[in-house]
Amino acid sequence: MITYSDLKNKKTSLAIVGLGYVGLPLAVAFAEHLDVIGFDINADRIAQLKAGVDHTLEVDNVRLQKVSMEFTSDPEALKRAKIIIVAVPTPIDKNRRPDLSPVVGASTLVGKHLSKDCVVIYESTVYPGVTEEVCGPILEKESGLVCGKDFFLGYSPERINPGDKVHTLQTITKVVASQNSGITELLDQLYSSVVRAGTHRASSIKVAEAAKVIENTQRDLNIALMNELSQIFALMSIDTLEVLEAAGTKWNFLPFRPGLVGGHCIGVDPYYLTFKAEELG
Ligand SMILES: NC(=O)c1ccc[n+]([C@@H]2O[C@H](COP(=O)([O-])OP(=O)(O)OC[C@H]3O[C@@H](n4cnc5c(N)ncnc54)[C@H](O)[C@@H]3O)[C@@H](O)[C@H]2O)c1
Repeated sequence: MITYSDLKNKKTSLAIVGLGYVGLPLAVAFAEHLDVIGFDINADRIAQLKAGVDHTLEVDNVRLQKVSMEFTSDPEALKRAKIIIVAVPTPIDKNRRPDLSPVVGASTLVGKHLSKDCVVIYESTVYPGVTEEVCGPILEKESGLVCGKDFFLGYSPERINPGDKVHTLQTITKVVASQNSGITELLDQLYSSVVRAGTHRASSIKVAEAAKVIENTQRDLNIALMNELSQIFALMSIDTLEVLEAAGTKWNFLPFRPGLVGGHCIGVDPYYLTFKAEELG
């Protein structure tokens, strides 16, 4: 099994697959301590990052230009990594059903370049079961290795808000989970090296997957309720904020407000949960 010291001493590398809002800040933070390979299938994105420009504005260009890491769209580079973190999109299709094609595509690609003792950590938002029941079997098929024996799965959801400079990767508690306590310990050491707020060890990958999807579902539903209330009160010429201020004096009234719901995943992620709920009847 690989250890955090192997990473720290640069005996092996860490790869991030998908360098968007989530993957890039993570890659840059790790690259300040470890040997990091940043992989994306989008060659334009790689060219842009090599030129030191991040159009998402999540990483300051000066910091990006200073960091020492490899940006590549050549999947062969993944062979050098013993830790591979997947942070690809999880959109919904036109029928509002989970579109797992980026997660499946990334897993297929990772599987083809997977070596023994690798740990593959997913950060994408999914419904409970995707990591172990969808991704694990793809990695096994493509690599010919056995999951939980030759390589291991981990899950650590990202909880950033795009554009929020207060709640960042470094300041938000990172939930970590894996297939066994040894790997969870490794994830804990790994993420603690970049997350000042520390980690929370979930008891299983499914618990961690479920935690992430309900965070956004709760926020989406509560803001939707406030929006409904504000429409009702507008019809009665009652000031909604005054109502919330009065109701908020009760100890267990939750302080949500009407408004737009952001970032872009809040309105999408709940469909991952409803998909699974409907599947279960
Ligand atoms: N954006 C947020 O604020 C945020 C916050 C928390 C969680 N998340 C979750 O994190 C995940 C990633 O979101 P994001 O906002 O970073 O997405 P994004 O669209 O910004 O970036 C994803 C990157 O992955 C690349 N990609 C797509 N398919 C790939 C593949 N097969 N192999 C390699 N690279 C591939 C794309 O080219 C893109 O650069 C999603 O599941 C999302 O729900 C996002």
